[in-house]
Amino acid sequence: MAWVEIPEEYLITDERIRQVSVSGLTFCLVFHDERWIAFSRKCPHAGAPLDQGWCKDGVVVCPYHRQEFDLKTGRGAQGQGNFITIYPLQIVADRWCIEVKDNFFQRLFAKL
Ligand code: FES
Repeated sequence: MAWVEIPEEYLITDERIRQVSVSGLTFCLVFHDERWIAFSRKCPHAGAPLDQGWCKDGVVVCPYHRQEFDLKTGRGAQGQGNFITIYPLQIVADRWCIEVKDNFFQRLFAKL
């Protein structure tokens, strides 16, 4: 696990959802309700790109079939039975950073 800096050019506070890639992790980033939120780039329903969706009342709305996901918990709306990942963010040395977990294959190849 590591904290990776989010490049400054993505940190624009206009509530538009952006797709960001850092250290092999691609995610969506939005400034909503006076805070940054990082979440899954794809909708779990049928894979729509969530950066083409929008935020309203604390949820992100998928652009394809309008499923909704809570921006605090990642849970889908009642009856959907699905969820998105909400990634931890924090300020490290005055820079916004996202927590990137290494996966099995990264660990495997790091040892070779
Ligand atoms: S792909 Fe997102 S609601 Fe269907």
